[in-house]
Amino acid sequence: MKVTVVGAGAVGASCAEYIAIKDFASEVVLLDIKEGYAEGKAMDLMQTASLNHFDTKITGSTSDYSKTANSDIAVITSGIPRKPGMTREELIGINAGIVKDVSSNIIKHSPNVIIIVVSNPMDTMTYLVHKTTDLPKNRIIGMGGALDSARFKYRLAEALEAPISDVDGMVIGGHSDKGMVPLTRLATRNSVLASEFLSEDRLNQVMEDTKVGGATLTGLLGTSAWYAPGAAVSALVQAIACDQQKMFPCSALLEGEYNLNDIAIGVPVILGRNGIEKIVEIDLSDAEKTKLTESAEAVKKTNGTLEF
Ligand code: NAI
Repeated sequence: MKVTVVGAGAVGASCAEYIAIKDFASEVVLLDIKEGYAEGKAMDLMQTASLNHFDTKITGSTSDYSKTANSDIAVITSGIPRKPGMTREELIGINAGIVKDVSSNIIKHSPNVIIIVVSNPMDTMTYLVHKTTDLPKNRIIGMGGALDSARFKYRLAEALEAPISDVDGMVIGGHSDKGMVPLTRLATRNSVLASEFLSEDRLNQVMEDTKVGGATLTGLLGTSAWYAPGAAVSALVQAIACDQQKMFPCSALLEGEYNLNDIAIGVPVILGRNGIEKIVEIDLSDAEKTKLTESAEAVKKTNGTLEF
């Protein structure tokens, strides 16, 4: 199993590290436009192998895509992250050009690849890869909901004063502060609805804290987060590589599901060796349907600014 990670910055390197530590891939190739940067990160990570007990071979390259040939999975994290006060949508001008260029280079050397898009604004970047490449739709996946759901579970566990492994919850919709839809109605603690333990106000607070999860960290760190994003990407890569048939909310191209068309947005999907094996349509309440529709309208507005 060969995995390419384009962009050896904060998220790309973190994702490569988690993939290596989980030791399911034979090879990870890091690629970055910054001279020597990916080579340096790869060497540093390889020098953790004997300490962290993994055999995954990590190599780095400065934009030599021939090194990525025959990758099974490629992760695109190249681009600029947001600074405090910025929205993800403000990154579109620079990141669209980078994502288009990077995805076409990846496919040239790995025609059967499965692409995971991370660069922001992620739903629009995922749509861009759908529109500008010939890859089948199951092989283009946007990562956002897995991270937002992890942040949701963190906030739920905090509110419930419960271990994180006891709680479950999912965030669908666009990967943006305003657009994401944490499904508080379906959140659980040990399979019992969280609403049995928490007041409506407290659950709403959990929802609001989740929505600004990324912005909160950007304010604290001065740039966007990397541990949880890297871990979320590595979980998707592992689900595909190990054919786990596991459900994650991911940005998927919709053709009628949830009454949405011609858009990539976060919905539950089953991930396995073919990428998106199935889009899962869960029963949403009328209020959740309205939120998802509004979120889709906002993503479509951003998509409308793309130049192909
Ligand atoms: P970073 O600045 O640390 O790393 C980005 C790397 O991309 C840099 O090392 C840069 O040299 C490289 N790069 C730029 N253009 C390139 C090109 N054409 N080819 C190869 N490499 C290139 O940024 P960070 O924090 O790693 O974030 C990366 C992206 O991921 C940002 O757009 C950020 O907003 C997004 N992000 C998305 C998340 C999600 O849930 N979807 C979560 C966190 C970040």
